[in-house]
Amino acid sequence: MKFKPLAFAMAAAMLMSAGAHAQQAPIVIKFSHVVANDTPKGKGAERFKELAEKATNGRVKVEVYPNSTLYKDKEEMEALQLGAVQMLAPSLAKFGPLGVKEFEAFDIPYIFPTKDVLYRVTEGPVGKDLFKKLEPKGITGLAYWDNGFKVMTANKPLRQPADFKGMKMRIQSSKVLDAQFRALGANPQVMAFSEVYQALQTGVVDGTENTPSNIYTQKMHEVQKHLTISNHGYIGYAVIVNKKFWDGLPADVRTQLEGAMKDATKYTNAIAEQENRDALEAIKKAGKTEVYTLNDAEKAQWRKALLPVRKEVEGRVGKEVLVAVDKETAALGVK
Ligand code: LMR
Repeated sequence: MKFKPLAFAMAAAMLMSAGAHAQQAPIVIKFSHVVANDTPKGKGAERFKELAEKATNGRVKVEVYPNSTLYKDKEEMEALQLGAVQMLAPSLAKFGPLGVKEFEAFDIPYIFPTKDVLYRVTEGPVGKDLFKKLEPKGITGLAYWDNGFKVMTANKPLRQPADFKGMKMRIQSSKVLDAQFRALGANPQVMAFSEVYQALQTGVVDGTENTPSNIYTQKMHEVQKHLTISNHGYIGYAVIVNKKFWDGLPADVRTQLEGAMKDATKYTNAIAEQENRDALEAIKKAGKTEVYTLNDAEKAQWRKALLPVRKEVEGRVGKEVLVAVDKETAALGVK
């Protein structure tokens, strides 16, 4: 065979560049979050790591820091903006302090009649528009992840709105959640997620609301004698990245990561409901908490007490999400 210098040089150059790639230090994504691995968000983060590293053939390494091991609620937002971490998935209730109050619409009691209505809002133009509001803060929104509907816990039964009178209830940093508990006559107290267990144990607060998966994995049920299945509100997440970091990624890598995020989102949203059902069963089985389901008359009383919150907070959260919810509710024919 005839020696072809040009072909040889090209092949050598390709090999060298492949070698250079292999030797290049991987791009590291630090993904910090506050919940346990064994939750919808924890599992979603792990799945994203697996998919992202595979899709980029090792060019990206994702380091997941669960359970507030790196940063607590408020600090993690600052760390993201400063570029100390690249990815977070805070609950939608935690964007107010950043100045993006519209996300708090998701905290309005009973706002989503069904999950389908919720998905149509987050996956439609309003979901994208909310993400646009993050850009001036140096943040890019990538996806919405589900957790689920909330239950209430305390050391006394919570069956009627009057039972909340004077109770100190831990909340996430959302003014809508503040209004919700005030509507019940309770005293809401903002507190980082990582501090809730101890605050419940020592009586700094009397009770809280959360999803069963968060309650179980933080062992809150061990220090709360009563749990009421009320499904009065929702917890979901925005997966967000530092905008400068994201924009500075090689285009092909960004596309691969977008694909990985899409699949991780499908996975997370598919498992969330079952994860919460399992956690509720585990709480019951642990035998330390009496689990109570509201009857129809009690449900009606809760709705009556909590529905006015929507009007009260409209000025703060804006109309966009509310209009979209109404539109999608009508489009789906939900009563
Ligand atoms: C909470 O603070 O209760 C939740 O936002 C925690 C979480 O990330 O699910």
